[in-house]
This record gives sequence, structure tokens and C-alpha cells, in this order.
Amino acid sequence: MEKPTKRILSGVQPSGDLHLGNYLGAIKNFVSLQKEYECFFCVVDLHAITVWQDPKVLANKTREVTAAFIASGIDPKKNNIFVQSQIPQHAQLAWLFNCIARMGWLNRMTQFKDKAGKNSENVSVGLFSYPTLMAADILIYLATHVPVGEDQKQHLELTRDIAQKFNNDFETDLFPIPEPLILGDAKRVMSLRDGSKKMSKSDPSDYSRIMLTDSAENIIQKIKKAKTDPYPLPDNINDLKLRPEALNLITIFSALESISIDKVLQNYGAKEFSSFKKDLADLAVSKLEPITSEMNKLMNDTPFIDDVLQSGKNNAIAVAEPVLRKTKEIIGFLS
Ligand code: TYM
Repeated sequence: MEKPTKRILSGVQPSGDLHLGNYLGAIKNFVSLQKEYECFFCVVDLHAITVWQDPKVLANKTREVTAAFIASGIDPKKNNIFVQSQIPQHAQLAWLFNCIARMGWLNRMTQFKDKAGKNSENVSVGLFSYPTLMAADILIYLATHVPVGEDQKQHLELTRDIAQKFNNDFETDLFPIPEPLILGDAKRVMSLRDGSKKMSKSDPSDYSRIMLTDSAENIIQKIKKAKTDPYPLPDNINDLKLRPEALNLITIFSALESISIDKVLQNYGAKEFSSFKKDLADLAVSKLEPITSEMNKLMNDTPFIDDVLQSGKNNAIAVAEPVLRKTKEIIGFLS
């Protein structure tokens, strides 16, 4: 079997509106990486249903993530964009990995603990085994690199452990040990309401996040209302690190403008938040509005989106099928 040396797999859940964290922490990086890597970008609807999803909106959310990929600059002709539930090999490999991963490994997953909270007896089994499906997403394509935000780091370590244990147990080198690509300063974009909490789809406050579907007016309002402290902006990184809300807004500015945090501090250090926020709002609108309007256009062209996903599906199955066959042969299943 041919072993790729530069193949990316990454996934985004269609579980709500995409936000600035998803864009800066992941999708913007996908756009730059597509030049150098063979890419598989997956809309992970099997992961989304580990918590309740309304069947009336799930298909539309799946198309919306696809539209966001394309509107952000991922070329659907050069890259494989596809839907996880349409590639049966993901779930099949995930089962095999459920028999490789150890309970102790999954018990250590902080994201499960965060999501389950005090309710751990009553969440789905799927939420617990979520990371083994993620390992399958990656390894079914023998992906070598995985661009993600920082919150996925522990899941990638588990993926590496699963690949390593499978290879050791069966004395094979089938699976690569994939490298995480956690790039840039916006690895962890924080809530606009609380600089110590991650920006997330599940935060009850709409004002905590900027959505890719937000209007310019919404974006301006949200940035205006973003929590700050009462002091002027710091003029050096060490001071900035002590001020979580300032750090978050400056990081967002630097990531949107693709300049260093130092450069932003040079321009805004010692200035008042009000003038900085105005510039940040203008910048956010100028970068996000073209994406939002392209997404809206694409969402009105369902046949185009579905064509992209169909060709992504064909390419994905062509790669995944022989890897699953080989895995089953290694395990000793009858063919
Ligand atoms: P999801 O759908 O929650 O998020 C998609 C991507 O966005 C990143 N991200 C962030 N980055 C910076 N700051 C934030 N506040 C922020 N919030 C989210 C995530 O790190 C992710 O890269 N488990 C994954 C989906 C997945 C996957 C995979 C990823 C399933 N299979 C295989 C990589 C490879 C998730 O929940 O992403």
C-alpha cells in the first residue's frame, strides 16, 4: 500500500454555527496548508450526534460547514471535502479502535469531563468513545498531519497512542504516528465575555462569540461589548499575558490581520480600548463579511455543495476502503 508523506485530515462538527475560534484556530490554517499537503477535510456529523442534534437542521448545518470551507478559500477541486457519515469505513475502524484503546486512556480525556460535567452517568456512550472515532477519521486515510486548535491536542495524543499500540500489538507499520499542527497565535480563541473561557458553540451567551453567519452590525456590537479591564492597552507581551481579555482581543487582531502580536502592541500599546476596539471591529468585518456573503451564496446553491460532497465521498472511499481491508486482514478476520 502506498504510504503518503504529507497528507492532512481534519474535521469540523456541524453542531452549531461556526465561530471565530473555528475559523482562526482551524479553517484559516487549512486554507494555507492546502498548497503544501494533500488534504481531506471532513464534516464530522457522527461526532456531532454524540450530543442531541435536531434532525430538521442537521443536513443544513452539514452543508453550512462545507460552504464555510469553500467560502474561506479551500479549493474544492484540489481538496477532498466530504461528510463523515457517508464514509462507512470511519465507524468500522472506530469499532476496531475501541478494542485497542484502554478505558484508562479515555478516562483521562479532559474534554469528556468538561462536556459531561456532573452528568456523566447520563451522557451518550458515543461522547465517551468520541476520541476513538477521531483516531479512525485520521488513520483511515493514513494521514500524517492534523491541523487543529489547541483544545484537540489531547485527542491527538490518544490517536498517536492508538496507532502505536495497534502497530505494536500486530507487529505492523500500517498506521503512521500523525503529527498535530497547532499553528499561529490563535490556537485558543477565548470567549468575548470571559477571557478565561474558550470561545465555544455551547456557551449560552451569543455575545461570547462571533459567528461566521453574523452581520457586520452584530460583529461591531459584540466587539464593542467585549469584556475588557479598565486600563489602557499594555505595550509589551509580558504585561499582556497578565491581562486575559486584552490578550484575547489582541490575538484576534493579529490573527485576522496576519501580523505578529508585537506589531499590534507597537500600534496600540498605551492606547484606550475604545479606539482599538473600533479598529478591531472594522478589521473583523472586512475579513469576515466576504466569507459570510460567499457562504450565503453557496447555501443557495445546494446542488453545487452536494456535488462537491459527492466527489469528496468518492475520493475518500477510494483511500479508506483498502486501509480498512488491510486492517481487517492484519487482525485476522475472514475476508
Ligand atoms: P470542533 O468542531 O469543535 O472545532 C473545529 C476546529 O476548531 C477548533 N476550535 C478552536 N480553535 C481555537 N480557538 C477556539 N476557541 C476553538 N474552538 C474550536 C478545534 O480545535 C477544531 O480544530 N473533535 C473535533 C472534530 C474532529 C476532528 C477529527 C479534528 C473530529 N475528527 C479528526 C481533527 C481530526 C472538534 O470537536 O472540532
